[in-house]
Amino acid sequence: MPPAEAVAPAPGTTGAAREPILQVKDLVKHYPLTRGVLFKKQIGAVKAVDGVSFDLRAGETLGTVGESGCGKSTVARMLVNLERPTSGQILYQGEDITRLSGRALKAVRRNIQMVFQDPYTSLNPRMTVGDIIGEPYEIHPEAAPKGDRRRKVQDLLDVVGLNPEFINRYPHQFSGGQRQRIGIARGLALQPQIIVADEPVSALDVSVQAQVVNLLERLQNEFGLSYVFIAHDLSIVRHISDRVGVMYLGRIIETGTDTEIYDHPTHPYTQALLSAVPVPDPEAREHRERILLAGDVPSPADPPSGCRFRTRCWKARERCALEVPLLAVPAVFRDVDSPARHDSACHFAEEIHVVPGNTTSHIGERSPRPGATSPGEERTAPEGPSPA
Ligand SMILES: Nc1ncnc2c1ncn2[C@@H]1O[C@H](COP(=O)(O)OP(=O)(O)OP(=O)(O)O)[C@@H](O)[C@H]1O
Ligand code: SF4
Ligand SMILES: [Mg+2]
Repeated sequence: MPPAEAVAPAPGTTGAAREPILQVKDLVKHYPLTRGVLFKKQIGAVKAVDGVSFDLRAGETLGTVGESGCGKSTVARMLVNLERPTSGQILYQGEDITRLSGRALKAVRRNIQMVFQDPYTSLNPRMTVGDIIGEPYEIHPEAAPKGDRRRKVQDLLDVVGLNPEFINRYPHQFSGGQRQRIGIARGLALQPQIIVADEPVSALDVSVQAQVVNLLERLQNEFGLSYVFIAHDLSIVRHISDRVGVMYLGRIIETGTDTEIYDHPTHPYTQALLSAVPVPDPEAREHRERILLAGDVPSPADPPSGCRFRTRCWKARERCALEVPLLAVPAVFRDVDSPARHDSACHFAEEIHVVPGNTTSHIGERSPRPGATSPGEERTAPEGPSPA
């Protein structure tokens, strides 16, 4: 049986069309800060996500980067309904899923699945791989009749480059990269349209990272999947993403295509992040200018007024404390025909080239996108035999 049968998206919903499949509008998540034991009193809120909006088109990858604590995982958890937003909308194919409950919510949730960061803790050590990958069928029995599940799980193992005979093994019998493949197979079990991958390769060795990223790309091409891909590593995000959103303190502060963001950044925070990317070429490294940010990220419980980045921005002026900069094409670039013309939440946006050299060196060339011919594409091999 061809593996595609196990994971192919529903008819008429492939990634060929570049329509938004997901629209996130002004998403907010505030965690209450309380005082007192018996009589809890709210004294404030951690503004983990504070007005995030973006579109995800069918078949594309939206990369999300930003420092630790800026709200990436909170956004991810809201997308897969592990957390309810404080306010805002998440529209899946035009329907606001934050208002759904019961059966309607369950039906939509099938289409948006998550791949977690740590393959060591996200798999139950007492369950066999077959039970782990087939677990979603317990919640959605309509996706696979009982008699068919074993074959479907074996198909999924095959799709992610693992031996279908491993179905009765336990997670500890696999390497880190292989475990992440198991996590990806579980994410594919219900034939989702969208995968939210939260730091899916951060816990893996660099060589294995490339294999898992290549696997995700191959699966995207085969099944027209859309990805929200979260990572600290800017090189990996550039490699896999069609578009990138840069987050700072609960908000997206700059967004555009990978070329717009990496080669033509206009927001000082993006410029500082990029200036910290390691440059492999020693000569380029010598000529690059590092932008060192002063101070720590402010507390999300008490973010600065106006522009949230102003306490660390070397360009901050009075206006920055008074006026929140909107995420839009800055006036200075509105009439120019240049990749600098993209959304940037800065009153004084200007283009600075900060990255000499290649930011994708350890992953290699990006594989062709859906619709492109890919005659030479190969299956990624699992990384060595699994320790028994
Ligand atoms: N359940 C919670 N209760 C209170 N605060 C929370 C909760 N979950 C997250 N936060 C806070 O919300 C902010 C955003 O956290 P989040 O985990 O989304 O960041 P992140 O960008 O994913 O960081 P990292 O890169 O470290 O994974 C942080 O300040 C975090 O401490
Ligand atoms: S709005 Fe002001 S503080 Fe914010 S990034 Fe732009 S220059 Fe810096
Ligand atoms: Mg996180």
